[in-house]
Amino acid sequence: MEKAAASLSELPQLKKVLVVGSGGRENALAWAIAKSQEVEKVYVAPGNGGTQDQLTCHRLDIQESNHEEIIQACISLQINLVVVGGEKPLAAGLADQLRAAGLVVFGPGEQGAQLESSKNWSKDLMKEANIPTAKYWSASTEKEAQDLLSKINKPLVVKADGLAAGKGVTICSSIKETREAIKESFSGKFGEAGAKLVLEECLQGPEVSIFALSDGETLEILPTAQDHKRLLDGDQGPNTGGMGAYAPTTMLSKKDLERVKNDILLPTLYALRKKNINYRGVIYAGLMLTKDGPQVIEFNCRFGDPECQALMPLMSSDFAKVLQAAAMGRLKSAPKLKASPLKSACIVATAYGYPENPRKGDLISIKLNNFQHSPIQLFHSGTKITEEGKLLTSGGRVLSIVSQGDSYNEAFEIAYKAMNQINFHGINYRQDIGYQVRNKDK
Ligand code: AMP
Ligand code: GLY
Repeated sequence: MEKAAASLSELPQLKKVLVVGSGGRENALAWAIAKSQEVEKVYVAPGNGGTQDQLTCHRLDIQESNHEEIIQACISLQINLVVVGGEKPLAAGLADQLRAAGLVVFGPGEQGAQLESSKNWSKDLMKEANIPTAKYWSASTEKEAQDLLSKINKPLVVKADGLAAGKGVTICSSIKETREAIKESFSGKFGEAGAKLVLEECLQGPEVSIFALSDGETLEILPTAQDHKRLLDGDQGPNTGGMGAYAPTTMLSKKDLERVKNDILLPTLYALRKKNINYRGVIYAGLMLTKDGPQVIEFNCRFGDPECQALMPLMSSDFAKVLQAAAMGRLKSAPKLKASPLKSACIVATAYGYPENPRKGDLISIKLNNFQHSPIQLFHSGTKITEEGKLLTSGGRVLSIVSQGDSYNEAFEIAYKAMNQINFHGINYRQDIGYQVRNKDK
C-alpha cells in the first residue's frame, strides 16, 4: 500500500489541461478530465458551441492546424498536459512540436501516428509483428493495382493509403466494382491520400473498437465499444463518421480481451518500440470478429468518435491522472483505471444533407430541463454560437446525447427521450443504435 501511495505522489500536479480539437470526442474528453479533483481548468482549442457549457471548460480560439499558436498558448497558460484529440494534428507532428517545447502530451508523434495516417505503413507493421489482419497488396500506380487485381481475380476492399476522413475505403462486391474503385482512387479524388493504395481481402463479422492507452512501455485497456458507421437504421445507407455507439460491448469476454491484448495490442506496441517509436497515446484497434478469430481492420492513433462520448461517462475521476501518467511514460505510477459497471448509450444527431453535403446554419433548440436528474450528457460537435448567442449547426455531426443505466435498455431509453427534446431543421438520427444489445438484457 505504502509503495503505491508513494509512486502515485510522484506524478506532478495537474491543474491546467488543453484538449486540441473541435468535435464531440474532444468535448467528452474535456468533460471527463474536468472531473478530476486536481484539475482547475480545461481549455479546448478550438472547441465548439458547447465547450463553454461544460464545467470549468473554456474555448481557445485557435485552430488545431495552428501549431505555433497552440504552443505559445500552452506556455503562457502554463498547461500541465495537452491531449490531442484528432488524427490530423497528430499526423502533422503537433505532439512532437509540443514535446520539443517541453510540454507533456498525450498523443503520438508523427512517426507513431502513421498507424493511422498510412495504411501501407500500418499493414507492414502488422505483418512484421504477425498480427492477425486481412491479406493485403500495396500499389503505387493504377496499372500496378489493376495488374494485381487481374492476378488475384476476386473482389477486394480498396483503401486509399492516407487520411481521407473515413471516405477512402470501398468494399467491392465484384471484380468490375474493384476495377472502378481502383480507378477512382487514383483519379485524384482523395488528393495526396490516394497517391498509393492498399488492396485487401474482404473479411466478415461484427466490428468492435478497442482503446488501449499506451505510455510507450505498457498498456491500459478501456472497456470495448461499438460504433454504427452507416447513416440509416438497419445498417443501411452510406458510411459516416459514426452515428452512435455503446459501451461496453458483450462481444468479447474477459478472456477474449486478454487474448486481444497479448496477440494484437502488445505486439503492436513492441513493433512500434522496435522502430524506436515512443508511443504515448491511444492505440485504437478496429477489430472484426471473424470465424477465425479477431482480425485488425484498421489502427487509429486517437479515440474514436462517437465511441469516446459513450466511454467517457464510464471513467472514474482519476481518468485525467491516467492520461497524464501515460503522457509521461509512467502508467505504472497511475491510479488504477476504474470503469463504471453501468452501460452507456450514445446517439448522434446529424445535419440535413449529411454525409455528402451537410447544411450549416440551422437553429438548434434544446429542451433538457426535465432531465436535470437523469444521467445524461450532451456533447456538441458541429455547433457554434453566434455573437447574439444563438446556437447553430455548423458541421455534419451536430451533437450527441449520452446516457447510462443498469441495462442497455435503460440507457438507450433515456438517451432517446432526451434526443426527442432536441430539434433543428433536417435533424437526423438513427432509431436503432444499440440494436445488438437492446432487448437482450438479462
Ligand atoms: P477503415 O477506414 O480501414 O476503418 O475502413 C472503414 C470500414 O470499412 C471498416 O470499419 C469496415 O467496416 C470496412 N472494412 C475495412 N476493411 C475491411 C476488410 N478488409 N473487410 C471487410 N470490411 C472492411
Ligand atoms: N468511430 C470511428 C472513428 O472514430 O474512426
